[in-house]
Parts: sequence; C-alpha cells; structure tokens
Amino acid sequence: MKNILITGGAGFIGSHVVKRFVNNYPEYNIYNIDKLTYAGNLNNLNEIENKENYTFFKIDINNHEEILKLFNENNITDVIHLAAESHVDRSIESSFEFAKTNVLGTLSLLEASKKSWNLSSKNNIFYHISTDEVYGSLGLKGSFNEKTKYDPNSPYSASKASSDHFVRAYNKTFSLPILISNCSNNYGPFQHNEKLIPNIINSLIKGEKIPIYGDGKNIRDWLFVNDHCDAIELIFKKGIIGQTYNIGSGYEISNIDLAQLIIKIYDNIKLNTSESSKKLIEFVDDRLGHDFRYSIDFSKIKNNLGWKPKTNFQEGILETIKWYLKKN
Ligand SMILES: NC(=O)c1ccc[n+]([C@@H]2O[C@H](COP(=O)([O-])OP(=O)(O)OC[C@H]3O[C@@H](n4cnc5c(N)ncnc54)[C@H](O)[C@@H]3O)[C@@H](O)[C@H]2O)c1
Repeated sequence: MKNILITGGAGFIGSHVVKRFVNNYPEYNIYNIDKLTYAGNLNNLNEIENKENYTFFKIDINNHEEILKLFNENNITDVIHLAAESHVDRSIESSFEFAKTNVLGTLSLLEASKKSWNLSSKNNIFYHISTDEVYGSLGLKGSFNEKTKYDPNSPYSASKASSDHFVRAYNKTFSLPILISNCSNNYGPFQHNEKLIPNIINSLIKGEKIPIYGDGKNIRDWLFVNDHCDAIELIFKKGIIGQTYNIGSGYEISNIDLAQLIIKIYDNIKLNTSESSKKLIEFVDDRLGHDFRYSIDFSKIKNNLGWKPKTNFQEGILETIKWYLKKN
C-alpha cells in the first residue's frame, strides 16, 4: 500500500501528474498539497476531485509542523515534489519567495521524510522534479547530460539548483532514497498564461501584441507535458535510487520561429488567411541574464529505462492551441 504525497498538484505539470496517478493507481492513496498561489488552480483537477483515492490539502510546504502532521496522520510513503515558484521573470523581479519555497520548502519536505520513514526498509521514494536550467546556458553546439556541471544563471535556476543539491545531500548523508529528474521546457493544456506558449496563444486569441525578448534567437527544447508525465511515472517506478535523469524532446526551436509556427497553425485553424497574425509580434527588451540555449541529452533515460517522447511538436501544439481556444 502506498500513500503518495504530490506537492504542487494544482499547478501545470503537477495537475497532470496527480490526474495520472489517481487514475492509473486506484490502489494507492494520492495526497495533493498546494499553497494555491497565483499559479495554482483547483479547476485543473475537476475530473478527479471526487475520486476515492484522492485527497487535497491546502498547505504551504514551508509550514514544517503541518507537513510533519500530514506525514504522520496519513502514513506518507512516497513524495513526488513539484511545488515551486516557477517563473523566471518573477524570480528576477523578486527572489525571496524563490529561495523560500524552492530551497527551504524542499528542505522542509526532506526533513519530514527523514523523520517519518524507516530508512533501512527501502520502501520509500523522495522524487524531486527539477529543470534543465540548473546547467546554465549553451552556445549553438552541445547538450546537457547528467554529468554536466551546474551553472545556474537566474534566481529561479539558482534556487532549483540549490534544492537539487539538498536532495542529493540527503541521500549521501542520511541515505534518504531519492530520485531527481531535470526536464526541458514543457508545454500543453493547463499551463499558466504567464508562460511563453500560453502567452503567444492568448495574445493571438485576443488580437494583442506578442512580446518576444531581444532578437528572438534564444533556443529552447520543448516537451509535451504528457511525455514528461510518462517519464515521471517511469522514473518513479523503475528509476535507480540516488540517480538523476535528464528529460527532453530533442525538438529545439528559437523563440521567434516558435511564435511564427504557432501563428501559422493558429491562423490555419481560424481560417484567418487573408491577414497573417505575424504583425502582432513585438520585440521587447531582452530578459536580464537570458540564457541563449538549452539542449538535453536524454540518452540515459532512453537507454536505461526505455523512455522517449511520443508526441511530435506539431501534434502537441495543435492540441494545446485547441485547448486554449476552448477555454477562452
Ligand atoms: N514548466 C516547465 O517547463 C518545467 C520544466 C522543468 C521542470 N519544472 C519544474 O516542475 C515543477 C512544476 O512546474 P510547473 O510549471 O507546473 O509550475 P506551476 O507554477 O504551474 O505550479 C507550481 C505549483 O506549486 C504551488 N506552490 C507554490 N509555492 C508553494 C508552496 N510554498 N507550498 C505549496 N505549494 C506551492 C503553486 O500553487 C502551483 O500550484 C516545478 O518544480 C518546476 O521547477 C517545470
């Protein structure tokens, strides 16, 4: 019997992970805790909210007493940790909340796991979800693998790098059974409007300007959120304790090409062919410390666990655009 705690389950990726685990594992109890910040939305979870194996608690992961109580009262056996402040731009505006939630909040969960679990039983997993941004920025060549040295550039990536280090340290120091994965940029339904792809789509829907940082040449690797969830489920079930896995799509595109591609697909759907929405693109001052390129070498998870992305970008982005059109 497993009592799995998923943190940040009202957010974008977390809500997909919660739905997947609630639906796929009726024999497990799934506890979702979320502070419900501006980024959390319980409507993301409507389809499973009444399922018997699902419980939601509104808890801040920094509230260590509440977290300990939750572990003890529900005999939490495993943690999949996604709760975080996740938007790079906000971390540049104000970094404190990023250090509090991403670093101290992670520590609060690690401590609760250490205090509550019998570490010699080998029955528990603390799975920390992280980002490829911890590795810093690349030029036009090369990719990040699991041995790439951490070199974070934004307050967001610095806070995630720090949390990764704490998770690894709890494994080395206390033998806490941990797993870490570092994933590239996700997109798909239920993502907050502040992020790049929803921002482009929503601007198109409203006929508003589409802001693109700098010259638009920065390159990202984009993974459909369901493919990330496949990887999370697989790592949780089959990952080797103590290890890190990189997750990515291999689909790299510059921000300006991404915007133009989404515009093309959107205009096709709307049959708005007389006038292209390309005129909505507006170049704005570059993000401070903007990383040029991220690229993921995901051969470890591919070769060792048999994962690879299933969704090609055209399919995934079409599904995403249709979801935002329906939502508006
Ligand atoms: N979105 C991506 O492209 C991406 C890529 C790689 C890794 N990640 C990581 O995946 C995780 C989820 O990312 P996301 O995009 O779904 O983020 P999100 O911002 O959509 O969701 C984060 C959730 O955490 C909750 N939360 C924030 N502070 C909290 C606190 N103190 N206590 C409890 N809950 C709190 C929010 O209410 C929200 O529901 C993060 O750890 C992020 O670093 C994201």
